[in-house]
Amino acid sequence: MSPSKPDSDSASVATASAHDTSRHRAIRSFVVRAGRMTGAQERAWRELWPALGIENGATPLDFAAIFGRDAPVVLEIGFGNGETLVALASAHPATNHVGLEVHPPGVGHLMLRCEAEHLQNVRVICDDAVQVLQRRAGDASVDEVLLYFPDPWPKKRHHKRRIVQPEFVALVARKLKPGGVFRMATDWQPYAEHMLATAGGCALLRNESATGDYVTRPDSRPVTRFERRGQRLGHGVWDLAFRRT
Ligand SMILES: C[S@@+](CC[C@H](N)C(=O)[O-])C[C@H]1O[C@@H](n2cnc3c(N)ncnc32)[C@H](O)[C@@H]1O
Repeated sequence: MSPSKPDSDSASVATASAHDTSRHRAIRSFVVRAGRMTGAQERAWRELWPALGIENGATPLDFAAIFGRDAPVVLEIGFGNGETLVALASAHPATNHVGLEVHPPGVGHLMLRCEAEHLQNVRVICDDAVQVLQRRAGDASVDEVLLYFPDPWPKKRHHKRRIVQPEFVALVARKLKPGGVFRMATDWQPYAEHMLATAGGCALLRNESATGDYVTRPDSRPVTRFERRGQRLGHGVWDLAFRRT
């Protein structure tokens, strides 16, 4: 089948700001890039999507039914080309991993890696994560939400595009089971400070940091291509973890 690229409607609602109303065009946390799909990625969409893909729409996400087993659910938002997702799913076969990404070539890349590593515990959605959380994910249905190296939107006039906003953090917190964890990482210090202040302001979340700010990098988080780019530019990395109370 052809990639279920996010349509203009589903891609149009992302990081809702407090000022959004139905009359205003909603603000997106992403730009759908024109990036070309390789032949292998096209094959992945044709042959692997039927088993690995979760179709867009409004159907509530019943994770136990989707995976055919009841197991902890880890949801990764904006997985890029899936390096972290594949590493985690391979290291934790008893956990169900769901990836959310709007970039179809990245989804194709992830599916190819799942095939190469014979992973049975991964499913993927090619849609705006904010909409999926708002419309399809049940409250208290997810054990971990991962948001690694989200687009930092460094220019001040673009800050409203950052996915981490109070409404988004509250949404993630609601989807977590009590005791569930929201993990973030960024290589952009002003965004790290923004994440800290925003998640710190959510009444449903408690910072896991002993020092009240950042946590040590989880051993489980591999270095991604995006992170390597930050390292080359001399950026630091800030990890955050917040637990649903
Ligand atoms: C800077 S990249 C980081 C990719 C990956 N997490 C890594 O560490 O290499 C951010 C990714 O988030 C995706 N993204 C941004 N907003 C999104 C949204 N609302 N829903 C799903 N994916 C989104 C982008 O398409 C992009 O691939």
